[in-house]
Amino acid sequence: MEAGKIWNVGLLLVATLVAAKLISVLIMPRSKRRLPPAVSAWPVVGVLVRFMKGPVVMLREEYPKLGSVFTLKLLNKNITFLIGPEVSAHFFKAPESDLSQQEVYQFNVPTFGPGVVFDFDYSVRQEQFRFFTEALRVNKLKAYVDQMVTEAQEYFSKWGESGEVDLKHELEQLIILTASRCLLGEERHLPLPSHPAPSPPRPSSQEAGRHIRNHHSFSQTPQNDLLQCFIDSKYKNGRPTTEAKITGLLIAALFAGHHTSSITSTWSGAHLLTGGKHMSAAVDEQRRLMEKHGDRVDYDVLSEMEVLYRCIKEALRLHPPLIMLLRSSHADFSVKSKEGVEYDVPKRHIVATSPAFANRLPHIYKDPDTYDPDRFGPGREEDKVAGAFSYVSFGGGRHGCLGEPFAYLQIKAIWSHLLRNFEMELVSPFPEIDWNAMVVGVKGKVMVRYKRKHLPIN
Ligand code: HEM
Repeated sequence: MEAGKIWNVGLLLVATLVAAKLISVLIMPRSKRRLPPAVSAWPVVGVLVRFMKGPVVMLREEYPKLGSVFTLKLLNKNITFLIGPEVSAHFFKAPESDLSQQEVYQFNVPTFGPGVVFDFDYSVRQEQFRFFTEALRVNKLKAYVDQMVTEAQEYFSKWGESGEVDLKHELEQLIILTASRCLLGEERHLPLPSHPAPSPPRPSSQEAGRHIRNHHSFSQTPQNDLLQCFIDSKYKNGRPTTEAKITGLLIAALFAGHHTSSITSTWSGAHLLTGGKHMSAAVDEQRRLMEKHGDRVDYDVLSEMEVLYRCIKEALRLHPPLIMLLRSSHADFSVKSKEGVEYDVPKRHIVATSPAFANRLPHIYKDPDTYDPDRFGPGREEDKVAGAFSYVSFGGGRHGCLGEPFAYLQIKAIWSHLLRNFEMELVSPFPEIDWNAMVVGVKGKVMVRYKRKHLPIN
């Protein structure tokens, strides 16, 4: 054969191979895609009934049958669940262009106001979250702690020598007072009701604007609050934040932190008050710290409260207020399940993971339904053994909670005060979970009998 012909045949061969590859990539995979197994139920009604029983009940039933990756067809949506640290890395780490929050969390827009957080494309949202990060840096947190401690002292000084209270209600009130003090400063001009409602109230933009101008022009000394941080924040192009945006950011902060923190402080209390040896360990720790530091409670002293930290963290493992995290997928991706099967998840699926379910996986946590704060202690560290996404009450990765340190400081400030100053006893039954709330919390009242004490130290 002449050289030219050989060349042509070669070219034809290469072109055929390329075309075959393209066809296999573009057409074949649709039929050969290894889709995750689907939850079986009667179309529409059957699936709705399963889902209405509660997503966590559905996960409990399906995970043992279908494994760590599976799809639920709900009306015209496909929801693919990635459950457990072995499969959820992509959920937490994927760039916004592949898995985004915007569409699935749009329902927040009317609350925060237009142009804030989920009403903006990712680059602007990222800048707004940078304002949060700056406002919650350690040096700022140190100043907030003083306000948290003062607020707790003032609040509990109004309790009598002894009495009975609904702890859930008390902590809801205290958390909103503390949060508004840290957010808005001592003046708290924003019209928060004297008996705050369970939901953070949304001030009108006029009222908020007035407060913002006052804050700016009348303060003689630098203010140590989130509002001041937001006022001082600037976008990369030097543009300052507007009053409306600042209001929205403040409301986003209140919203993200209020229910979540008050629910967690109530669960921490319910578990401590029924926790026997864990309660004693937490009180002993307070005694040791008082011997070392006297009555001083500041950022450094709170940071030494490791036993209390683990007690709160364990309450939050069992009862994460955000039970389901969602993303909308914009690009196909593959995931290898814990069981070793490779699946392809098509774009346009909603992708979900569940802190409430994943935090109780028995191959990660020993006796997962038992309250055992020591599981996080030296030598066990069950929250780390299976990697970064073993403990996901605060999410993780790209969108991990920015308020986590703030929340722990606030709850520790409250509980260290209670442990030092009161004997307490739970007089209502151990509370149940209120699965119907959007931020899943405690059902009914949590009645507690208290008596003042002063913790004796050696
Ligand atoms: C116990 C209390 C809290 C819990 C359990 C909690 C939980 C979470 C979770 C699970 C996420 C991730 C959501 C997702 O991936 O879709 C998140 C994000 C976030 N949290 Fe928290 N949170 C708490 C307190 C706070 C507080 C006090 C603040 C503010 C002061 C805050 C601000 C935020 C913000 C700004 C984000 C969004 C981060 C991003 O998307 O980049 N949180 N939180």
